[in-house]
Amino acid sequence: MKALAVIPRQPHSAHVREDHPEPSLDAVAGGRGVKVKVLRVGLDGTDKEIDAGEYGASPPGFDYLVTGHEGFGVVTEVGEHVTEVKPGDYVVSIVRQAGDSIYDYVGTPDFTTDDSYHEHGINLVHGFLTEAYVEDAGRLVLVPQGLREVGVLLEPTTVVEKGIAQAYEIQRRLKVWQPKRAAVLGAGTIGLMAAMVLRLRGLDVTVFGRDEPPFLNSDLVEALGARYVSTQQTSLADAAAQHGPFDLMFEATGFSPLVFEAMGVLGRNGVLVLSSVTGGDRKVEVPSDVLNLGFVLGNKVMVGTVNASRADFESGVRDIAMAVARWPGWLEQLLTHPVRGLDDAPKALELLGTPGAIKVYVEVAPLP
Ligand code: BGC
Ligand code: ZN
Repeated sequence: MKALAVIPRQPHSAHVREDHPEPSLDAVAGGRGVKVKVLRVGLDGTDKEIDAGEYGASPPGFDYLVTGHEGFGVVTEVGEHVTEVKPGDYVVSIVRQAGDSIYDYVGTPDFTTDDSYHEHGINLVHGFLTEAYVEDAGRLVLVPQGLREVGVLLEPTTVVEKGIAQAYEIQRRLKVWQPKRAAVLGAGTIGLMAAMVLRLRGLDVTVFGRDEPPFLNSDLVEALGARYVSTQQTSLADAAAQHGPFDLMFEATGFSPLVFEAMGVLGRNGVLVLSSVTGGDRKVEVPSDVLNLGFVLGNKVMVGTVNASRADFESGVRDIAMAVARWPGWLEQLLTHPVRGLDDAPKALELLGTPGAIKVYVEVAPLP
C-alpha cells in the first residue's frame, strides 16, 4: 500500500512509499481486529518535529515509520468478536496504546509512567497516512455519520478535552468551584478548540494570539462569543486586569516563556493547564519570588497535560456534535488546507505553519 513515511531521527526524510504491507485482521488477537479505510488525516506540529528528525521511532521490524496520528476513516471489515462497530461506520483511533504501568492497565495510557510510549504515527506504531490500518475494536471511537465532514478534527479536540477535564477534576478540591472567566493562550487549532470547549461550558473566554485582528482566527474566536486579544496590542497583564481574573487558563502557544507570564496573571484558586510540547531548550529569567508568592497566597494550581484517553475521545465527539448544532459551519472553517491524495502528502508537511493555515490535512480518499 501507499504510505507517507519517515526514517525516524533523519531530518526531512518524509517520502511516499508503495511497499507498506496491507494489514490483516488477525494482527489483533481474539477476533477483535477492525480494518479501517483511511479517509482523512490531519497534521500538526508533532508531525513537523518528526519530519525534522527531532522525534519519533519506527515499529519493531521496520526501518521507517508511517506518520499521521490525527486519523479519520471508515470501517471495512470486522473480526468475529467485534460488536462495537460494523462496516460503513466512521471511526477515529485512539493515538496511544497501553504500556505497562498501572495507568495503562486501567485504560488511561495517556497517564503512563513508562519511559517510552506507543503512539500511532509518532512512536513505535505506524500512523494513519496510508490506505488502511487494523486496530483493536477497543481503541476505536465511533463518529456519527452527521459529523463526518469534521471528524478529522476529533484527535486535536481530545487533547483539549483531557486538559479541561483535568482542570475540573483538580478543582473539585474547592468543593464549590464555579469558573466564570477563562483565558486561552494561542489561537491555532488547539487554542480554537479550547475556546470552543470552554464556551460550551458557558465560560467567558478571552483568546490571546500574536497577530492583530481581524483575520480568520480572530473571526472564529468571535463567532463563538469569545474575545480575541492580540498580544502585540495588549499585554497579558492589562488584558487580565480588564477581562480577568481568570479561573482557568489553557496554554497552547508552543512558546514556553508565556507559561511564566500566565502564572503571573492566574486568578486566586485558579488552574493553569499547560499543553505545549516544547522540544527546544529555551531559558528565561522569571520573577520567581513574585510568582511563587502568588501561587502560595492564591492557592493556585498548574498542571501539564498530554494525549487523551478513550473518555476524552468520547467527550470530544459529544462536544463536536454540540458545536455543530450551536455554531453551524464553524468547525468546517478550521479545515483550511486540504491536500488531495497520498502522492501529494509531503506537501502537507510544507503547508504546516504557513500563514492562514489552521488545519492542514490529507484527503486520502473521498468521504463515502
Ligand atoms: C498528539 C498527542 C501525543 C503528543 C506527544 C501530540 O501531537 O496529538 O496525542 O500524545 O503529540 O507525542
Ligand atoms: Zn497532535
